Amino acid sequence: MNLITRFNKKCKDFLVLILSLFMVQQHLSAQEVIPIESVTNALVLEVDEDKNVKIIYFGERLSNPNEYGEVPSVYNQTGHYSENLNAAYMPSGSHNLMEPAITVTHADGNTSLDLRYVAHKQESIDANVDLFTVELKDPVYPFSVKLFYKVYKNEDVFEQWCTISHKEKKDVQLHKFASANLYLKSGTFWLTQYHGDWAEEMQPEVSRLTHGIKTLDSKLGTRANLLQPPVFMLGIGRAPEEDTGDVIFGAMEWSGNFRIDMELDVEDNLRVIAGMNNFSSVYHLKSGETFETPKFLYLLSHNGKGEASRKMHDWARKYKLLDGSGDRLTLLNNWEATYFDFNEQKLFSLIKDTKELGVDLFLLDDGWFANKYPRDGDYAGLGDWEVNKSKLPNGIASLVKESKNNGVKFGIWIEPEMVNPKSRLYETHPDWVIKQPKREEHYFRNQLVLDLSNPEVQDFVFHVVDQLFVENPELAYIKWDCNAVIYNAYSSYLKQQSHLYIEYVKGLYSVLKRIREKYPLVPMMLCSGGGGRVDYAALQYFTEFWPSDNTDPLERIFLQWEYSHFYPSIATSNHVTEWGNQPIKFRVDVAMMGKLGFDIVVHELPEKELVFCQQAIKCYNDIKGVIWYGDQYRLADPKVNNVAALMYVDDEQDRAIVFSYLVNNRFNKKSEVPIALKGLDPAKKYRVREINLYPGAVTKVDESVVYSGEFLMKVGYNPLVDASRTSVILEVMAIEN
Ligand code: GLA
Repeated sequence: MNLITRFNKKCKDFLVLILSLFMVQQHLSAQEVIPIESVTNALVLEVDEDKNVKIIYFGERLSNPNEYGEVPSVYNQTGHYSENLNAAYMPSGSHNLMEPAITVTHADGNTSLDLRYVAHKQESIDANVDLFTVELKDPVYPFSVKLFYKVYKNEDVFEQWCTISHKEKKDVQLHKFASANLYLKSGTFWLTQYHGDWAEEMQPEVSRLTHGIKTLDSKLGTRANLLQPPVFMLGIGRAPEEDTGDVIFGAMEWSGNFRIDMELDVEDNLRVIAGMNNFSSVYHLKSGETFETPKFLYLLSHNGKGEASRKMHDWARKYKLLDGSGDRLTLLNNWEATYFDFNEQKLFSLIKDTKELGVDLFLLDDGWFANKYPRDGDYAGLGDWEVNKSKLPNGIASLVKESKNNGVKFGIWIEPEMVNPKSRLYETHPDWVIKQPKREEHYFRNQLVLDLSNPEVQDFVFHVVDQLFVENPELAYIKWDCNAVIYNAYSSYLKQQSHLYIEYVKGLYSVLKRIREKYPLVPMMLCSGGGGRVDYAALQYFTEFWPSDNTDPLERIFLQWEYSHFYPSIATSNHVTEWGNQPIKFRVDVAMMGKLGFDIVVHELPEKELVFCQQAIKCYNDIKGVIWYGDQYRLADPKVNNVAALMYVDDEQDRAIVFSYLVNNRFNKKSEVPIALKGLDPAKKYRVREINLYPGAVTKVDESVVYSGEFLMKVGYNPLVDASRTSVILEVMAIEN
């Protein structure tokens, strides 16, 4: 470089320095406001003069975004010593003393973290979806966090997550790594949370949040939602209501351990900190590596739970659930009809039943595999995915063929993440199993979990599925089960044991991704010993889920009601079984509020019941479009009414289906008062007709009357439910004026 060029370069460097100082100065003197807006709402961040990024607003969108900057000035709260309560992503170890979103130990052993604004950008993914990125950096350490906000504008859905990276000399330990923290200002907050267990999933509880921290979490590893699902509601100012009031729906998109903390702080504001559970999961992050958190999903409605659900359903069908706007198959499952006790002849006869019933597919459940330790019960064979020769000497192929001959499709059950100790797989690959090397094994349903953090195990699981499709290209459906939790968490593959819970789930997703790359649309049911695994990260790979093994239709009304807040009916698999003492019509009607299936011995049905089921399936095929793609309105809550009711309305408001059930058989209760319908066009005229009647039954509904939408919504309609008519389905059809 000659002298002149050297001089020129020096000048240039000097200029750049002056310019960048000027730009920094620009930033420092002005507080920057970043509005992240959906059609109805805005989450507003502010960068203060010290470059702290704060949440100043989450509420209804303002028409003039310039006014967001004034929000803090109208709050007259005391101001906190930390000056940090509303951090957009709360670090720990510096001046913050509240529950953090992130906690680290740096390469040099220091445990402090501070995160300051570097830059932000807004990208438009398409007309409806924006992605905001906010970059934060520690001023002392080469440690960065990027916050991502994906906004689905019409649906008012926000997805938030972050990436964490550093350029320190050695590994940094991440002790906590939430996807997001929110900061909500209001007088009071009311939490609706869920808990459950096998066959009693989704039990709601509502409580007013008190100061301190309320935590929803799971530490089960797999089948992670057995005791608590990763979904909740927050009523702002009052308990969540159906059609009025501000309510936030939240959900972690993660199929493993999750943790959602709600901290009501000293200023009565609520901090919601959601992410993977950091329980036993210190993450050792290498220099240059990026750690990406799962997504935290939230949605704010000002018109109660009903609207929040409809927006969530729209979003799920359009953006998350696999083939959310596609078709679904009705089916006959053999689980409760045979359990493990079947052979080819028995299955052939069930395949004939499938045709006779009129559903689309026969689903072969557990028990079809393993030879050395035959799968004749849940104590053996899991992991040995070769067909059991004595039950099925001609293999799966003959069942696929027999199905084809009967004009129905064929699907199969697998539980590929698991192993029975009594199996060839366990004998050959004990190192593939999650278990403590020095401790006694501990089983859940006589089984252990395979170590999906190990790429070899991921390959094995992929091949279990792939092989089935390669050998049976006409295989049309998979039921993917997951029946055990992780005890004695230890991987003989991983160097860092504390990565296991996280790497397991990532391994599972990578298998599912591979499966979907090769078989993009084959319907798959997400099942986990009932509803032990339901979340929107998994549902990207599945077309439907199994809410519970409890198919007693009375219980199901309550269960489906709760699931219906978060998941659309097209994703909710409901089977008609022998559970409960209700008449067949009641059982079928309840199962119709979702994706209909059967698990009964069809040829043992009394003639009239069979005829009813056949007609019901035809009826379902006629109305399923309204149920799957229509708007859902919850009308009468089974928890507080004698008659429960729920309806679906098509987009044109021309056709609606109303389901109503007697849920209290004490004191001869009935539908004494009309039930106000919702979602109709007040100006349109409608005729009401009872559908799916039992053969020979005569309706009590006068089908000749014409009602305005206004009447049906303001006065209501009485389905005339009583002990002689415990279940009534109405079709509400618009007529030409
Ligand atoms: C789980 C599922 C059931 C059935 C059995 C088979 O419990 O939830 O539907 O598939 O496994 O073992």
